[in-house]
Amino acid sequence: MLFWLIYNDFMLILGIETSCDETAAAVVEVKKGRFLSRANTVLSQINIHKKYGGVVPEIAARKHVKNIIPVIDQTLKRARVSPKNIDRIAVTTGPGLMTSLLVGSQTAKTLAFAWNKKIVPVNHLKAHLYANFLHNKKVIFPVVALIVSGGHTELILMRNATSFKKIGQTIDDAAGEAFDKVAQLIGLSYPGGPALAKLALGGDATAFAFPRPMLDADNFDFSFSGLKTAVRYAVEKSPRLTSPLKKNLAASFQQASVDVLVAKTVRAATVYKAKMLMLAGGVAANVLLRDTVTREAKKIKRPLLIPDFIFCTDNAAMIAVAGYFEKPVDWDKIIVDPNLEI
Ligand code: KG4
Ligand code: ZN
Repeated sequence: MLFWLIYNDFMLILGIETSCDETAAAVVEVKKGRFLSRANTVLSQINIHKKYGGVVPEIAARKHVKNIIPVIDQTLKRARVSPKNIDRIAVTTGPGLMTSLLVGSQTAKTLAFAWNKKIVPVNHLKAHLYANFLHNKKVIFPVVALIVSGGHTELILMRNATSFKKIGQTIDDAAGEAFDKVAQLIGLSYPGGPALAKLALGGDATAFAFPRPMLDADNFDFSFSGLKTAVRYAVEKSPRLTSPLKKNLAASFQQASVDVLVAKTVRAATVYKAKMLMLAGGVAANVLLRDTVTREAKKIKRPLLIPDFIFCTDNAAMIAVAGYFEKPVDWDKIIVDPNLEI
């Protein structure tokens, strides 16, 4: 393994990501173990799905079909890379929406066949963690990493760059899902996470004493459905959803979520004797979460990595980085799995 990593000291990887509602492609350069995103294109379908209050899988897949080739073409041009110089193609094979995954994987297979390239199947969740390798900062193992996305909330122990052990997860809603549902309760449109965070800026985080679910449980699991229900009761009890009330609801909910996420991550880091902490996934773009985990990591004297904002939400640069660590296969060995786990 070590020999293989040293031997492959320069590589250009084309990443392709279509697991949900973003059509994304990226070219990542790997040089002496460092990762540089040469071009990173994300075509979001948010405006299309907004009116339905969530992602409609059939529509998402159709838009991927329409956009995937132009997105890849544009990415290669922006990276100034010709297909003949691409060393391998990395593509998300799960978890995600079946029909969306199929568009990316079929495209990757076709290109791999036509260009005679190796292809690397990538687990989207691991890729979120690999977004932290785009910093060019040294990763020190063991790492305790928190993945917080629209579909997942998991604590992962990484003993090295290719070892992933799940040590905790949500028993109901994912953190991002809770942000989106609470945002909907207070009248914000999909995806509500970023809008809720913005609204919370003007609110009082102590206005509502929402629960901190499973904070004291003797494990590293999470639960967000009770917290979401507590917000719903508070909304139902209020005769009118005034602007100050909405801000206070948003701020109090956000604070409760962040308190639990950070406390459990820090506790896991101590218990598992982690030398470094990592944050990843769409909710890692949340500023309160970033600031709080930064402060708490300092208290326990552990370095922390958080991806740049553009690499927190779904993107293909993280898929390309993951493609460096995973094993390449022939194009006909690529199989998608919507329920793929870490
Ligand atoms: O990782 P991601 O882009 O897609 C999945 O793999 O699920 O995560 C999307 C989730 C959504 O639930 C979105 O509302 C949430 O990340 N999100 C945020 C913020 N930015 C994105 N949640 C809270 N605060 C944010 N700033
Ligand atoms: Zn994601």
